Amino acid sequence: MATMKKKVNPLWGGRFKTGASDLAQSFSSSVDVDKNLFEVDIKGSIAYAEILKEAKVINAKDLSKIKKGLNKILLEIREDRFNWDPALEDVHMNIESRLAEIAGASAKKLHTGRSRNDQVATDLRLFLKIRIDEILQTITSLQKSILEQADKNYDVLLPGFTHLQIAQPVTLGHHLMAWYEMLSRDYSRLIDTKKRMDVMPLGSAALSGTRFNIDRKFLAKKLGFSEISRNSMDAVSDRDFVLELASSLSIIGIHLSRICEEIIIWSSKQFDYLELSDDVCTGSSIMPQKKNPDMAELIRGGTSKTIANLMGLLSLMKNLPLTYNRDMQEDKAYIFDSLDFSENSLALLGIVIDGMKPNVEKMKQDCFKGQITATDLADYLVEKNMPFRQAHEVVGKIVASAESKDKQIYELGIKDLRKFSKLIEEDVSAYLDPEITIKSRKQTGGTAPSQVKKEINSAKKSILKRAL
Ligand code: ARG
Repeated sequence: MATMKKKVNPLWGGRFKTGASDLAQSFSSSVDVDKNLFEVDIKGSIAYAEILKEAKVINAKDLSKIKKGLNKILLEIREDRFNWDPALEDVHMNIESRLAEIAGASAKKLHTGRSRNDQVATDLRLFLKIRIDEILQTITSLQKSILEQADKNYDVLLPGFTHLQIAQPVTLGHHLMAWYEMLSRDYSRLIDTKKRMDVMPLGSAALSGTRFNIDRKFLAKKLGFSEISRNSMDAVSDRDFVLELASSLSIIGIHLSRICEEIIIWSSKQFDYLELSDDVCTGSSIMPQKKNPDMAELIRGGTSKTIANLMGLLSLMKNLPLTYNRDMQEDKAYIFDSLDFSENSLALLGIVIDGMKPNVEKMKQDCFKGQITATDLADYLVEKNMPFRQAHEVVGKIVASAESKDKQIYELGIKDLRKFSKLIEEDVSAYLDPEITIKSRKQTGGTAPSQVKKEINSAKKSILKRAL
């Protein structure tokens, strides 16, 4: 049986006698992933056509046909009437080939002085800038949820942990504001990432720049870029902006995962610090009593994807010579996956936090365990002029003695305490009560309820000043 010759791609097939084999075609097609770029691709092409007209490469009639055609395509895609053809490789060629059907000869002038290499680099930057803005907004709304819980619980006693062992008393508000701080760094890291991304590659063409007299600065302005690239070879082969975003998203993922880990521990019956709302939990198909913190677990688990995507991108890029290499087409699947996961998990965590009901009584009870004010007792001795190292040793002995009697230090009488140091007097009781000792941490950054309240108020003000 005679095999039919494969059709050559009309957009680059001039020198080819036959088209790619079926497997090569499906293997190289990226349209399923990169069709997400259609809005920015069309926006970029419209602006580019306008600039070609300014440069007298195309005339007014061409421009009008191209614009009309592209706007029609925009609607077709938005309304799901567009016929995506995997044989046309990617989003760019699908749109260009449809434009040729609509606008004929004028459409064929659009790619003058432009390559898919500078086109995809431009599209991706435009797309990621928009997605960063969306994520910034979601971070802000998650932080507002945290602030609200922190405000309600700014003075609620909670054991602070190191090594997951009871360490010193803090307030729940203080702990929640630590989450807030982590997310504030994530917010500013994304702003920085966006700044470095805000450079337009268009006009770099395939790799060496363009001979046509296009006004790149004006084009950048039209597309909302603050700068234009200074080296065409770098511009078409640089994907640092994708790596940097993937890294910022991984750090967000790690923060969300750590927060979720605490929520999971706190909501266990052993801790019993929190009740989660039903809408973020699931039951067990065999154990009728179960209420599991699945959403928090899925955020914790899913974070691995953001790390895997970053690793994938780093290894994708590490051996590539300048300039464009087709390997780079793989970048999109990684970064789109990280973006979707980050967006969804930030929003979901907001719902988890809104519905959290702290068990204030249990948190407080645990502040009377674990010799939680031992450090305060050492501080007391220091205030009575004992060197800290010596005070540490004395309190260590007091702790050992209390534990041998299965007691907490505050349960030992003053007589017992004075056996270890004559510096201890009646006024020591204020140093043994967690409700009193937390009030002493009133330096900036400390857990004194008055200080926590101050931080909450200033966070509320600064979040209002944010653009996103
Ligand atoms: N789909 C390609 C990508 O995302 C577009 C650039 C292709 N350029 C080329 N010369 N084959 O990387």
